[in-house]
Amino acid sequence: MKAVAVFPRERDVRVIDTPEPRLTAPDQVKLRILEVGVCGTDREICGFHYGFPPEGSDHLVIGHECLGEVVQVGAKVKSFKKGDLAVLTVRRPCGKPDCPSCKEGRQDFCYTGAFKERGIKQQHGYMTEYVVDSEKFLLPVPKSLRDYAVLVEPLTIAEKALIEVWQVQQRLPWSCPHAGKSKPGICHHAVVLGAGPIGLLGAMAFANAGFSTFVYSREDEKSEKANLVRSFGATYISAQVTPVDKLVDRIGTIDVVYEATGASKLSFEVLKHVGPNAAFVFTGVPGLKGPAEVDTDQIMRNMVLKNQVLLGTVNAGRDAFEAAIKDLREFKRKWPSALNSLITGRYHITEAKTPLLSTDGIKNVIYFGERNGSVPLG
Ligand code: BGC
Repeated sequence: MKAVAVFPRERDVRVIDTPEPRLTAPDQVKLRILEVGVCGTDREICGFHYGFPPEGSDHLVIGHECLGEVVQVGAKVKSFKKGDLAVLTVRRPCGKPDCPSCKEGRQDFCYTGAFKERGIKQQHGYMTEYVVDSEKFLLPVPKSLRDYAVLVEPLTIAEKALIEVWQVQQRLPWSCPHAGKSKPGICHHAVVLGAGPIGLLGAMAFANAGFSTFVYSREDEKSEKANLVRSFGATYISAQVTPVDKLVDRIGTIDVVYEATGASKLSFEVLKHVGPNAAFVFTGVPGLKGPAEVDTDQIMRNMVLKNQVLLGTVNAGRDAFEAAIKDLREFKRKWPSALNSLITGRYHITEAKTPLLSTDGIKNVIYFGERNGSVPLG
């Protein structure tokens, strides 16, 4: 079967032929991969800045955002049958006896750093025709989400952030007095930094949770991305017209920031302007560009005097995957055209290098099986 692999020592990325995996344990499921999303992490791996092949292998099969169809199940599999759709989580436990997180299936909070990540760190990924894994790393997806479920994994980043924000804010009377269950954030202002796939999906999740949501990014206010943001009820603010120190004038009090740029300087600038009791969530992984100047006194002073929380988050647990599947159904019902426009290109595996080596479009996706042409990058 075909797979897309990175060879770090040769500094090469290519489509390879590799043996089809087989079930080796009764709790395993075999999936035929339908679609795999391409993200910034994949591009970093293809630029040889990140990514680790499995021990003893000279290559890493990439891909960690996937949708598959069940083709075979082991004798002990309870929740899946042939023909079901499923998505896979990314991180696998470290297996160390002194890691309580991994022991409890919360490898997204691994203590030892010895976790593995499929398609990223020491385990082959999903950009291939068939994948086998244990049932416990799979989540069922309704057939109605066939065209969108490849977005589940990138949406889990925001879902985990939201879960954490609600947990952290239980420290104070933060809930909105008139909020229904479906709109718990209704009296709060959330700012999303960045309008890439993580930012846009995050903005949809915050808007769906009822927050007044603002997306702050580089593109101008008449751009397609700005229109897309407005189409799901959020406000787009361009950095071209509104400098960071004027954000509060346009937004009012900033209660939550969901950072999705990996731009540390910008993030710390914004941190200076968040409101009382605010929660600021970092999700981006910046390249190491050396020290930059930030006003640490101002930031620390505010953080203490205003009870602010700064939180980093990576990867996601099953709870965030379940929330993402639930929210995607909601997005499809409320904002179908916004959801459609997030996927800007669909590429056959034989042409995978095009989206992997380009930053054009929003979310580009690799598909498998019969080649039926490729939709150009948006
Ligand atoms: C993935 C996460 C992963 C992180 C760091 C992200 O692109 O979505 O699952 O933990 O990269 O490797």
